[in-house]
Amino acid sequence: MSRIIAVSNRVPVGGKSSGGLAVGVLAALEEYGGVWFGWNGEIVDGDMPDPEIERRGRVTYATLPLNRQDFDDYYNGFSNNILWPLFHFQLGVFSYDRRQFEAYCRVNALFARKLAPLIEPGDLIWVHDYHLILLASELRRAGIEQPIGFFLHVPFPGVDVLRALPPYQAMLRGLCAYDVVGFQTQRDLRSFEENIAQQDFGDAMLADRRVGSKGCDVHADVFPIGIDVAGIKRLAQEAVGTPPIARMADSLHGRQLVIGVDRLDYSKGLPERFRAYERLLEQNTDLRGELVFMQIAPPSRTGVRAYVEIREELEQTAGNINGRYAEMDWMPIRYLNRKYSRRTLMGLLRIARVAVVTPLRDGMNLVAKEYVAAQDPENPGALVLSTLAGAARELDDATLVNPYDIEDVSEGIMQAIAMPLAERRERHRAMIEALERNDITRWRTRFVDALSGC
Ligand code: G6P
Repeated sequence: MSRIIAVSNRVPVGGKSSGGLAVGVLAALEEYGGVWFGWNGEIVDGDMPDPEIERRGRVTYATLPLNRQDFDDYYNGFSNNILWPLFHFQLGVFSYDRRQFEAYCRVNALFARKLAPLIEPGDLIWVHDYHLILLASELRRAGIEQPIGFFLHVPFPGVDVLRALPPYQAMLRGLCAYDVVGFQTQRDLRSFEENIAQQDFGDAMLADRRVGSKGCDVHADVFPIGIDVAGIKRLAQEAVGTPPIARMADSLHGRQLVIGVDRLDYSKGLPERFRAYERLLEQNTDLRGELVFMQIAPPSRTGVRAYVEIREELEQTAGNINGRYAEMDWMPIRYLNRKYSRRTLMGLLRIARVAVVTPLRDGMNLVAKEYVAAQDPENPGALVLSTLAGAARELDDATLVNPYDIEDVSEGIMQAIAMPLAERRERHRAMIEALERNDITRWRTRFVDALSGC
């Protein structure tokens, strides 16, 4: 079996992350064995050093720090202040800076140079996410001939949106340098194909064996990321007996728990979600004192202004709602800006009667899938899910809502709270079947098969 060389911007050494990308990549590497290359989360003042190598079981971590300028311009700048909002259709947040694009090119080239010596004949290279779109062309330049695949965890924008990005052609060409390009949903693949179809790469690109004058012969397909259904179920069941979950359950005093778990990000639809909950309390006086809405939102990308602003907005909104409705013995919202272990999160999902997953746009959203897997099939909770999350394609038995429409989200939560047991069971069964049909093993097997077929 070939070794996998996984590359992602951020590498959580030791696998201490609950994010979709980290969980998926780690599971693939544990199965196939290989190297995980990328940023270790540290910042240095001088040049980027060679990677530090650490072996844990079948996975070799090869990680390096970013220099301060690259952290500002490549990570905070081009990746998270330009590509992230653009790929999430948030043009109001998007702004462009040519210097940041240059830093993006520089870091992609640097990563390629630092990674190349670690690659052996027979390896398959699997690059993840929007930070590293230009890596394949840089690896080819460094003489690497092994198959290189790219998986985009976030949505891919259509022609009209992508063209707001001045160097959009360079990004499309960068994608065409891969052997396989994978997307979360059909919609993303269609956007990519439309972009390619409308793009004439011109004679200059004919030298590249993968790009014709009218397009690009990369193998592009849909590989919706899944979860380890049985593993999550087990983890959630185990967690219920642990002290933090038992304490949390006690603290509810029989009230119903409505839960949200998201990175603190403006794409997650959190202010709208808070206002929808407020609307629910406004319009249903009988629910006051009967529900607890707990939103877990660990801060992220705190060096980017839009993230500082969303944090302030949410603090204010949560404060207003609590100020308006709290009683001596009841707080309507518990808003927590901190990280929890995966086990605790799964336990919380299990005891929640409703999960509200309402991003304004999301590549997939694994919290939606994890919530379903964490439920007790005999008495499952109900999922309120944004139609604009990739997960809605597979989980169409959730209560689907438009995250921009506060009334719709509020009615969705109401419907989920009132849903009879038989209907909850029926919907849960259908959703579990969908998750089992396309689990995390299928995701990585299909991608690795496509890559090794190159
Ligand atoms: C999203 C992205 C990942 C990223 C993660 C955490 O899930 O798709 O590529 O690693 O967020 O973001 P951060 O900026 O902290 O790495």
